[in-house]
Amino acid sequence: MRVSTLGIIGGTGWLGGALAQAVLETGFLRAGSLFLSNRSGRHPLQASGAQLLIDNQAVVDASDTVVISVRPEQFSELTLDASGKRVISLMAGVTSQAIAEATGATVVVRAMPNAAVAIRQSFTPWHCSSELTPAAVAFVQGMFGCVGMASRVPTEQCIDYLSALSGTGPALPALLMAALMRQAVAAGVPEDIAQDAARGVVVNASQLLATTEPHALLDALKAYKGVTAQALQSLEDAGFERLIGDAVHAGAEVARRGM
Ligand SMILES: NC(=O)c1ccc[n+]([C@@H]2O[C@H](COP(=O)([O-])OP(=O)(O)OC[C@H]3O[C@@H](n4cnc5c(N)ncnc54)[C@H](OP(=O)(O)O)[C@@H]3O)[C@@H](O)[C@H]2O)c1
Repeated sequence: MRVSTLGIIGGTGWLGGALAQAVLETGFLRAGSLFLSNRSGRHPLQASGAQLLIDNQAVVDASDTVVISVRPEQFSELTLDASGKRVISLMAGVTSQAIAEATGATVVVRAMPNAAVAIRQSFTPWHCSSELTPAAVAFVQGMFGCVGMASRVPTEQCIDYLSALSGTGPALPALLMAALMRQAVAAGVPEDIAQDAARGVVVNASQLLATTEPHALLDALKAYKGVTAQALQSLEDAGFERLIGDAVHAGAEVARRGM
């Protein structure tokens, strides 16, 4: 069977670069099947054997599947003829229709990884309105499986919404950790201890959620009717869930209307 070839336009950026490295290191693709492009000629994967090209069309021509991983505002600078190709866009806020119109791609997949591709812990929802063969589904799932977990979602609207949820990756936990740290320091806790305590909660203790449902964990902790229960109640009384919902909706609105 002929080996699939993959091109990544923007293949040296945060997402594109991490994806390129992961598909090689996991053995999903061999280096000769991977083509990358950027404008600068900077090639962090030079030693790997993956080819870096400055001509985006050459990447498209060499590849069965083309990943577009430039920033949304850089998309209009691309001139691509991807007729007959499968294009997978990682861009937030650029619709499948706009991608199909601009590239002529036969099949357009929109996917939304997050910054944790760098540690291969992304959750990547993806959507494709075309019917895909089992082999094509396996390719998309397998490729994103190299950087974490992936799931096909039923509508493109899900991608816009999830852009502001899983697409934000570490942003919400980082906000929580920063708030916990600042508030602890304001309450008189030494700064280094505040940082360790906040990281211990956000990064370490949260690992329990890998195997426990959040509601079960919350119920168990609230049952002590003590310190944790009071802190949680205070957040709930202040409308925590509504605030989170509003925040994700605000981000999703940007994804829906485009950047
Ligand atoms: N980072 C995230 O957390 C995140 C999360 C979800 C989705 N996304 C989406 O992922 C996409 C990429 O984001 P990123 O964070 O990886 O951006 P990034 O680090 O800025 O990477 C962009 C890449 O595109 C290249 N590039 C720009 N213009 C180009 C052109 N005309 N031709 C070829 N290459 C070009 C850049 O290299 P040169 O400058 O050398 O050209 C760079 O390698 C975005 O569309 C974003 O919406 C990102």
